[in-house]
Parts: sequence; structure tokens; C-alpha cells
Amino acid sequence: MTATHAFWLAGRHVTGETTFDVTSPWDGRLVGKVSVPTEAQVEEAVAAAYAVRDEFAGTPAHVRAAALDRVSRRLAERTEEIAQLISAENGKPIKWARGEVGRAVSVFRFAAEEARRFNGGEAQRLDTDLGGQGRLAVTRRFPKGVVLGIAPFNFPLNLCAHKIAPAIAAGVPIILKPAPATPLSGLVIGELLAETELPAGSWSILPVSNDRMPALVQDPRLPVISFTGSEKVGYAIMDSVPRKHCTLELGGNGAAVVLGDYASDADLDWAATRIATFSNYQGGQSCISVQRVIADASVYDRLLPRIVAAVEAQATGDPSDDRTDVGPLVSEDAAKRVESWVREAVDAGAALLTGGKRDGASYAPTVLTDVPATATLSCEEVFGPVLTVQKVDGEAAAFAAVNDSKYGLQAGVFTHDLQTAFRAHRALEVGGVVIGDVPSYRADQMPYGGAKQSGVGREGVKFAMDDYTYERVLVLTGLAL
Ligand code: SIN
Repeated sequence: MTATHAFWLAGRHVTGETTFDVTSPWDGRLVGKVSVPTEAQVEEAVAAAYAVRDEFAGTPAHVRAAALDRVSRRLAERTEEIAQLISAENGKPIKWARGEVGRAVSVFRFAAEEARRFNGGEAQRLDTDLGGQGRLAVTRRFPKGVVLGIAPFNFPLNLCAHKIAPAIAAGVPIILKPAPATPLSGLVIGELLAETELPAGSWSILPVSNDRMPALVQDPRLPVISFTGSEKVGYAIMDSVPRKHCTLELGGNGAAVVLGDYASDADLDWAATRIATFSNYQGGQSCISVQRVIADASVYDRLLPRIVAAVEAQATGDPSDDRTDVGPLVSEDAAKRVESWVREAVDAGAALLTGGKRDGASYAPTVLTDVPATATLSCEEVFGPVLTVQKVDGEAAAFAAVNDSKYGLQAGVFTHDLQTAFRAHRALEVGGVVIGDVPSYRADQMPYGGAKQSGVGREGVKFAMDDYTYERVLVLTGLAL
């Protein structure tokens, strides 16, 4: 019999009155049953977080840092078991799941380091004018209030870590809601936090269903919302609480630009391999996976066959197999949606070079060219293993093509030229530009977030801590400066 997974209410492991099933997208097997918090339990968690906020803000940095370091160490010790869980509930190939655990280990470690550094206070002399003589301003950051974190299914451990770890580092209580399809990995973080001395109430992990979220979103005791997920849901949340502080990490249709100076065989092999790998990692279900390749006409004919070959070399199949590169999507419905978008593009004149086939929740790695600009595949985030390749003339046209999107999360530019790199940084309307690699590169300590419809605010441990807090200035008077 499959065990029921309890949830975490103010640091306690408790069950509700009902459960829901978590199944593997690969073979439909039951991975776990998850207990659902009742209304009263949700209320208890929110009340506890609200009540503990002053105590938690005052918890010494060494206590919070030690807790974060401990979670990081324990995640590392349990890597294989947790990777198996991610792979089972999400369908992510095991090698990528191991990578995800490694990243979460780093996120908690970075958070421990930032907790030790954070809020040292900045002093500013005010005697620059007569009225400020003898005065000094000291600025420190204080919590905006309890955070409501809402995490997606695609990185079920690490994107929970990106919400919880900075909250703890900054001394801000958090209520975390993991994704309904993949709650088990987020609940594991609770097991590790429960081994620490953090105050009760400072964290809860509640697998509440999506339809119950509007009440939590509206709760005035939760003034900060950190959401990662779809554009539609993110903006619906923000529009429903215009006076709350919302951080939205939304979609993208990541572009990789290959410019004319990136032209040796070795260059093109590297670009093609990286593009193929990162249009397909976790089935393309990353907001920064490569969806669009924009190649200069001078390299296009040599690049395209390399990309197709590298995409065809991706090993598809059972996510628990070490050799698998591409597993299923999160659900059969998700794969059917991808299938329909590809069919629409082909019907409108796109050329299908490889892939284009669905088997249950799995969709074959796919490459298309000549996709009309009006096709859904050109305009929206596919969140599947599908790549479009487009030929352009020169750098300006390439950058214009990247910007020809409602999204702006990250872009990759394959060039060797430093001047071009700086021009790309200036020209591209995105949250991050990666030179010599795909847009999918993310180091967990760097600022991460979008421009345009890709969202508002930044994650990346230190940046999320800034986001959860605000500056409060202290003016001291009558000092001998
Ligand atoms: C995302 O899908 O937005 C997260 C990507 C990542 O953390 O690598």
C-alpha cells in the first residue's frame, strides 16, 4: 500500500481529512498519496506565520544560517533518493533530476552565506547640507511581511528551494504551495527544515488545490506573493491583488542566436549540441529552454543539419534510465497541446525536419523551419521539446527577431566578439543575456527573471531576499561625524 504523505503546518507534520494521488507521467503508476489541508489547518498555518513574524525577523543570523546549511547538507546526503522522487512524480530523466538536487543544495548553501552577510546596514552622512549637520542615516532592510510562495511542477524541488531558502535567510515567514502534480519533492524540504531549530510557524508547506488559492492570495496577512508559473495565472493573481507585492516568474520562448563569427566546425558543433540539449531538457518544460534558433544566413546551412542530428541523438524513453535524455511531459494533455501547436504550424506551411510524434504523455524532440510568425508556436511558450529555426541577415536582424516576442526572459548569443556581446546586452529586451551558450543557462545565485510578459521582479537568492524586504532608514542626530 502506498503511504500517505502528510504536509507541514507550522513546522509540524500533520494530515488533513482528504488525499489526492500523485502519479507518474511516464507509466501512470501511483507515486504517492498526499494529504490535503483543511480550511482550518490553512488558517492555523497563516495565523502561525503571522504571529511569528517579529520573532523570526529577530532570530540571529547564525541560527538561520546554520539551519540553511544543515538543509543543504542533508539534501546532498539524500541526493539519490530525492532525485528518484523528482523523476517519479515529474517524469524528469534521472540525470536531470540529480542535477536539480545539486542545484537545490547550492541554493540553501548560498542562502546560508547571504543570511550571514545580509542587512549589515549602510551608513550615509547627511551633513552634506546645513540642515543635516551632525546627522547620519543608517539603512537596514526589514521584512515586507509573510510570503506566499507558489511553485511550479517543472523544477519541483529547486523552485520550492528558491522561494523558501531566501525567506529563511531574510527572517521572513513563508507559506509554500507546491504544484499539485509534483508536491512530494517540495514536501521533502519540510522533512529537512523540521530537523532544524527554526521557530514554529516560520514555514509551512501546504499542498492546497489551485481552486482554493484565491482565498490565500487575498489574505491580508500574506502581503508578498512569489509566483512561478504561467503568464495567465501569474497576471490573474497580480490583477486580483494590485496593492500586494507580487513577484512573477512567468514564461518565455527562449531564443538562441548564432551569429556569423561563430563559424568554425567546432563552434557550430558546440552551438548545435547545446541547442539540442537545452530545447529538450525535461521535455522542454523550462521557461528558459531553447524554443527559437535565430541563425545568421552565413552559418545557417551548416548549422541546421547539425541541430537536426543533435536533436535526433537525444535518447528518449524511461526517465528512470540513466541513459535517457528526454522523458515524458507532465501529462498527456500537455503533450496533446504541443502536438496541436506543431500540427497548426505545419498546416500553415512550416517544414517539419524531425519529430512531430506523440505517444501518450511523450512528445518526440522536434525541429521545424519556416514557421509563420503568426503561428501559436512562434508567439507563445511551447513548454515542450520543440524548436523552430529561422534564418536572418546580420546582427541587427537577429536581435530584432529575438525582441519580436511578447516574452523576454533570457536569450543566448553565440558570438566570440566582446563588442557584439555588449551590443546584445544593450539591445535584447530580456532579463538575462548569455554569451557563448543557450538562454537556458542559470546559475542559482544570479538575478533571474523577465522583462515584458515574462514577469516582474527577480529571484536568485540575494535578489529574492531584497524582494521580500524593504529598506528602512534610521536617522541619528547630534553626532560628531
Ligand atoms: C524556470 O523554468 O523558470 C526555471 C529554470 C531554471 O531554474 O533553470
